[in-house]
Amino acid sequence: MALLIAVLTLVLLVSASTSPAIALSLNHYEKTCPDVESIVAKAVERATMKDKTVPAALLRMHFHDCFIRGCDASVLLYSKGNNKAEKDGPANLSLHGFYVIENAKKEVEAACPGVVSCADILAFAARDAVVLSGGPTWELPKGRKDGRTSKASETIQLPAPTFNISQLQQSFSQRGLSMDDLVALSGGHTIGFSHCSSFQNRIRNFNATHDIDPTMHPSFAASLRNVCPIKNKAKNAGATMDPSSTAFDNTYFKLILQGKTLFSSDQALLTNPKTKGLVYKFASSKQSFEKAFVNSMIKMSSLNGGQEIRKDCRVVN
Ligand code: HEM
Ligand SMILES: *[C@@H]1O[C@H](CO)[C@@H](O)[C@H](O)[C@H]1NC(C)=O
Ligand SMILES: *[C@@H]1O[C@H](CO)[C@@H](O)[C@H](O)[C@H]1NC(C)=O
Ligand SMILES: *[C@@H]1O[C@H](CO)[C@@H](O)[C@H](O)[C@H]1NC(C)=O
Repeated sequence: MALLIAVLTLVLLVSASTSPAIALSLNHYEKTCPDVESIVAKAVERATMKDKTVPAALLRMHFHDCFIRGCDASVLLYSKGNNKAEKDGPANLSLHGFYVIENAKKEVEAACPGVVSCADILAFAARDAVVLSGGPTWELPKGRKDGRTSKASETIQLPAPTFNISQLQQSFSQRGLSMDDLVALSGGHTIGFSHCSSFQNRIRNFNATHDIDPTMHPSFAASLRNVCPIKNKAKNAGATMDPSSTAFDNTYFKLILQGKTLFSSDQALLTNPKTKGLVYKFASSKQSFEKAFVNSMIKMSSLNGGQEIRKDCRVVN
């Protein structure tokens, strides 16, 4: 009950701070599509059985969706005519698994046509991805609408892996997200994979005095230089976010303390007293990380978006 009240208060706060306000609710599909969440969960589970990289892809896709124009499934739209969509923009690197959402939408449409937004399906799928990886579950407020606009040029508004703490703070606060949210949500990097290009700034020509970022553990840096050879630009080369890259746990925070995370933006969480304190807290308690992660996910996924219920997630109605 306490959680429920917290969730509802949050939803009200978030809707009040952005416009146009879309009121999300926990029982939005109770009458119109009662099985929607189990249909999506099964679709995500089936896809994950075939491809272990699906959960990380869906979690990141939801984050990218919410950070550009709110959670409105703008990330799912295909480019059309001379409009280049987000999908084909810079910073889209390695977004994948779109087919999972497209297929889930088809199944949902068969059960309850024209009722469930693609934005909600992606939000459900991101939550299911966390659950399938052994993380916490939560009740998701729903009723998002899908947007009609997607622009490749807007993806530069996403935070970059080279960001320092003040740039990260600014990127999050512009979306009503706090330093606490920043640390908790960065914990999403407990699962998944990164390409060399996202951390190459740290392992070669770091700055005028250091070839390698001195905050990175030397043996870890050496191993990354090994998998990311300069010359043969293997486009698919890279590294897992953490050694337990399919398990949603608090290893990521322990790795930050050891200098063994991939991005400058991960390591930057130690450069501010408040965020540093949270890194230590989450490194020592999986439960406190999970609790904070759930709170911040609900907050992020309540960012406002669109206008319609798309029929096909790839195109506007
Ligand atoms: C704080 C700012 C963030 C930055 C700078 C950032 C940056 C990145 C980068 C550069 C990659 C690797 C892309 C590649 O090279 O393939 C990545 C992957 C990933 N990110 Fe983030 N991210 C941030 C926040 C988040 C948030 C809030 C979440 C979700 C809660 C998230 C979830 C993920 C996941 C799951 C992957 C792995 C994707 C896969 O394996 O396909 N990230 N992130
Ligand atoms: C990402 O953007 C690039 C450049 O616009 C494009 O060539 C590529 O196909 C896009 N990748 C995906 C997965 O959409
Ligand atoms: C972060 O980077 C920006 C842009 O390069 C710079 O202006 C700012 O001083 C940096 N902040 C910190 C805390 O290093
Ligand atoms: C390079 O980075 C290190 C670690 O952040 C710093 O101590 C050093 O002053 C930097 N050197 C230059 C020339 O900026």
